Amino acid sequence: MIKKGIVLAGGMGTRMSPLTKAVNKQLLPLYDKPLIYYPLSVLMLAGIKKILIIVNKGQLSQFKKILPEKNNLGISLEYKEQIQPGGLPEAFTIGEKFINKDSVSLILGDNFFYGQSLTKILRKNMNLNTGAKIFVHPVKSPHLYGVATLDKNRKIIKLEEKPKKTKSNYAVTGLYFFDNKVVELTKKLKPSKRGELEIIDLLNFYKRKKRLKAEFIGRGGSWLDTGNINDFYDASNFISTIEKRQGLKIACLEEIALNNNWIDKKQIKIAADFYGKCDYSKYLYSLINE
Ligand code: TTP
Repeated sequence: MIKKGIVLAGGMGTRMSPLTKAVNKQLLPLYDKPLIYYPLSVLMLAGIKKILIIVNKGQLSQFKKILPEKNNLGISLEYKEQIQPGGLPEAFTIGEKFINKDSVSLILGDNFFYGQSLTKILRKNMNLNTGAKIFVHPVKSPHLYGVATLDKNRKIIKLEEKPKKTKSNYAVTGLYFFDNKVVELTKKLKPSKRGELEIIDLLNFYKRKKRLKAEFIGRGGSWLDTGNINDFYDASNFISTIEKRQGLKIACLEEIALNNNWIDKKQIKIAADFYGKCDYSKYLYSLINE
C-alpha cells in the first residue's frame, strides 16, 4: 500500500526564464493558486497523508510560507533540499530516510492532472508492494516526452526518452508509483550524456524484470506538463474556464482534506484567516456554510 508521496519541486525552470530567474516555477501562479498546489492535490486525492517536498537549495523559506510543516491540511509535510538539479531519480536518494521501508509515489512539481475519474484511477492503484507503475496519457507531440509503447494487452514493450520517431503516442506522465527497491536501484544509476540521472533508466530496470506496469489516465482526464510557457498558460486558462463555469475549485487543498475527513470546519476557518480576504477564502467559507 502506498502511503507516502514525494513532490519534486526544484529544477532550473530554464524554459520559463526570465519568469523563473527569481521565483521557483512551482511557486508561480497557475490561475489562482501556486503551481505546487496542483501536484500536491493529486497525492492528497490518492489518500496520501505523508508527503515530502523537495525544493532547490535556498528556497525552503519561500515554500514554507505557503505550505508550512504545521499546516491546516491534516497531512504530515516534510521538506528536503536538492543541492542542484541532478535528475528526477535523486528524489529517492534525497528521500531515502523519508521512504524508509515503504513503497512511494513521486509526482513532478510542474505536472497538472484533472479528470472525472482521476481519484478512482489513483485509488485503484494504491495497493503496490512490488514493482512500479507509470501513468500514461495520449499526446499529439510524443517526441517532447518520455514515451511508452504498449502491446494490445497493455504490456509495456518499449520506453524511450524524447524519441525523434515513434509509433506510440503515449507519454509517460510525471506520476510514478514505486516499491521500496527504488532507493537501491537509484544508487545504481549512472548519469546520462546530459549529466543527470534519468527516470527512464530507472523505469527500464523494472521493465527488464517485468515489474513495470502502465495505467491510463483515460480520455476523460487531462494531463499537462506545465514546464513551458505555452502549456503553462493553457493550463491556467483551462483552470480558469472550469472554475468560473462550475463555481468549484480545482486543487483546493483544504477542500480535499475536508472531504477526506482529515480536517474539520475549525481548520477551514483557520485556513481562511491565513489566506486573508480573497476569493480562495470565500470559497473555503462556502464549503462550511452550506
Ligand atoms: P524539468 O521540467 O525536466 O526541468 P526544469 O523544471 O528544471 O525545467 P527546464 O527543463 O525548463 O530547465 O523538471 C520536471 C520537474 O521536476 C520540475 O517540476 C522540476 C523538478 N526537478 C527537480 O526538482 N529536480 C531535478 O533535478 C529535475 C531534473 C527536475
